[in-house]
Amino acid sequence: MGQALPKPALRPFLAADTPMLAAIFVASVEELTGDDYSEAQQQAWAGAADDEEQFGKRLASELTLIATLQNSPVGFASLKGSDHIQMLYVHPSAAGQGVGAMLCDALEKLAAGRGAKSLTVDASDNAEGFFAKRGYVAKQRNTVTVNGEWLANTTMQKSLGDGAVPGGPK
Ligand SMILES: CC(C)(COP(=O)(O)OP(=O)(O)OC[C@H]1O[C@@H](n2cnc3c(N)ncnc32)[C@H](O)[C@@H]1OP(=O)(O)O)[C@@H](O)C(=O)NCCC(=O)NCCS
Repeated sequence: MGQALPKPALRPFLAADTPMLAAIFVASVEELTGDDYSEAQQQAWAGAADDEEQFGKRLASELTLIATLQNSPVGFASLKGSDHIQMLYVHPSAAGQGVGAMLCDALEKLAAGRGAKSLTVDASDNAEGFFAKRGYVAKQRNTVTVNGEWLANTTMQKSLGDGAVPGGPK
């Protein structure tokens, strides 16, 4: 019989996590996005964490959650305002184990708790399938410049309004 995989857990972001999250961000971009983006595009994208102080400020200004496996951070996600997923990155060594799904589940609940009726994300091309599987629908194709490189992504939206309202009409 195989051993059960350890279950991921969630906790809030602390400023001291910044270097670890910057490393997860860079590894995730470098190793998980190569099918859809060129090396130059990946480098430009990963360069967003070069200025760690700025990167940490950005994480702190949003609602950032960290996923851990056996107490070590393996992924993170952030909610901007009440209704936009700003970041979702999983370390390649932990990919495919439900970490991204757990983070996304939590952001969807937090967004609903903040009163959002729907949630949007500017999904990278490699993550589009992940979000589509969770019920996000493509709305708009975008091209953005990051550190001098053009990168395409797709704005996707999921309605959060299909849960039954407790005490509401039957
Ligand atoms: C996209 C990403 C967050 C997914 O994280 P993950 O932890 O590997 O995903 P999970 O293991 O939770 O997968 C959940 C489900 O989605 C599926 N899935 C995961 N990545 C997928 C993809 N790229 N395309 C289609 N389906 C995908 C899984 O097979 C799984 O399906 P199941 O529920 O039937 O088993 C991760 O690949 C990543 O960090 N990518 C690079 C950074 C990035 O592009 N982030 C998005 C910025 S908007």
